[in-house]
Amino acid sequence: MAPKTKTKTVFFCKECGFESVKWNGQCPSCHAWNTMIEQEVSATVIKKKGAGGLGVEPAAPCALSEITLGDEDRIKTGIEEFDRVLGGGIVPGSLVLVGGDPGIGKSTLLLQVCRELAGIGESVLYISGEESTRQIKMRADRLGDFKKDMMLLCETDLTAISDIIRNKKPRIVIIDSIQTMYNEDVSGTPGSVSQVRESTAVLLQLSKTLGISIFIVGHVTKEGTVAGPRILEHMVDTVLYFEGDRYAAYRILRGVKNRFGSTNEIGVFEMWEKGLREVKNPSEYLLQGRQSGASGIVTGCSVEGTRPMLLEAQALVCQTAFGIPRRQASGADLNRINLMMAVLEKRLGLHLGQCDAYVNIAGGMKIVEPAVDLALAMAIVSSFLNIPVDDSLIAVGEIGLSGEVRSVSQIEQRVSEAAKMGYETCVIPEAGADRLKGMKGLENIKIVPVDSVKKAISIIQK
Ligand code: TYD
Ligand code: MG
Repeated sequence: MAPKTKTKTVFFCKECGFESVKWNGQCPSCHAWNTMIEQEVSATVIKKKGAGGLGVEPAAPCALSEITLGDEDRIKTGIEEFDRVLGGGIVPGSLVLVGGDPGIGKSTLLLQVCRELAGIGESVLYISGEESTRQIKMRADRLGDFKKDMMLLCETDLTAISDIIRNKKPRIVIIDSIQTMYNEDVSGTPGSVSQVRESTAVLLQLSKTLGISIFIVGHVTKEGTVAGPRILEHMVDTVLYFEGDRYAAYRILRGVKNRFGSTNEIGVFEMWEKGLREVKNPSEYLLQGRQSGASGIVTGCSVEGTRPMLLEAQALVCQTAFGIPRRQASGADLNRINLMMAVLEKRLGLHLGQCDAYVNIAGGMKIVEPAVDLALAMAIVSSFLNIPVDDSLIAVGEIGLSGEVRSVSQIEQRVSEAAKMGYETCVIPEAGADRLKGMKGLENIKIVPVDSVKKAISIIQK
């Protein structure tokens, strides 16, 4: 006889998964508006949660010293950009969420990871709920030769999937995507908050008890009733987001949470007709096509994790045709630009108040680090005065409200990257400049320490 099920309804926030017995216009947890959706929850399912429901032995406490680490070595995929973001390779038994906008290249990336893993003899199972095996085969053919086979499965029923995983015991499983998975024990349509959460719980148990690394693809959704990947961030070991400008070819894989490594690392890829290509030298990539002799362009440097990246700060400053000047920033923070323009006006006496300003970080990169302040400020002044800045110059430093140039972290890495890329002059904050003394590889680069933005600007005017 079927167990008696008592159904009740609760409200979930489809952004963050917050649960409430009543509807709210604004989610009390993440403060998003109009994201609460009603969903049925049956009482039997609530009881079934946890390891017991999955046929796993009840857990017993054990001493830390008794735990022996077996073959805990990370599995290296050979795709360096990917391995680095994971903290040095895939940790066996880890659950990884790969989120991103639809069409950004998540399936492509993971299929390429599978190809590399199959190539080194790992058993891989790619489960797709979105594409047919023929479609995946077509995509795989575009990506190039698969030297060894990997297993493919097109299924959305999670019970069937967990049976297959238990039987086949692959080392690595890809679930593409979590929003298409369906657990018949749980109410709600695929993609609903309860389905997404319960499916992830099942996958979590599978990965932890069998020691399988599972990659879950989650689409970031802006609207509709499909739950976004944020609601499962707390359940997984590692959260990676694949992001990029739809109109730019490069893609960035960013670690947002990582129980096995740093979250500062990024991986840079480029999408071309045969899948994703690693961009091993982002500086070179970002500086491509630079015009020499034009005003309003200064090279800066941002550090993502341990990696310095040179970038081009561009500014166009011109007299406003209307009463209120227009300020626009792409890739940089507009508030910061406004602040810097106020500093330049007040401390340097430049009449920027009646000027439109358009500021851009070339290449579509988004930089929030204050270390690019100096490059941006110099670009603004260069455009305002219409004096080009020497294109072998690079500037790093944070600008304070009194017009001082403040020190930045990892100055050594930034300067040595500039030296490696053939820059001849490097304007840096005076504070911390002595850290560069005696550093190797800086023989051909002239270091110019400055303590104020005024001093830095005087270099342009020379
Ligand atoms: P996909 O991996 O399907 O995205 P997701 O799984 O994140 O939804 O990537 C789809 C996009 O990538 C598609 O718009 C076309 C592009 N693409 C290429 O440009 N070259 C390729 O070789 C492949 C496979 C995809
Ligand atoms: Mg996909």
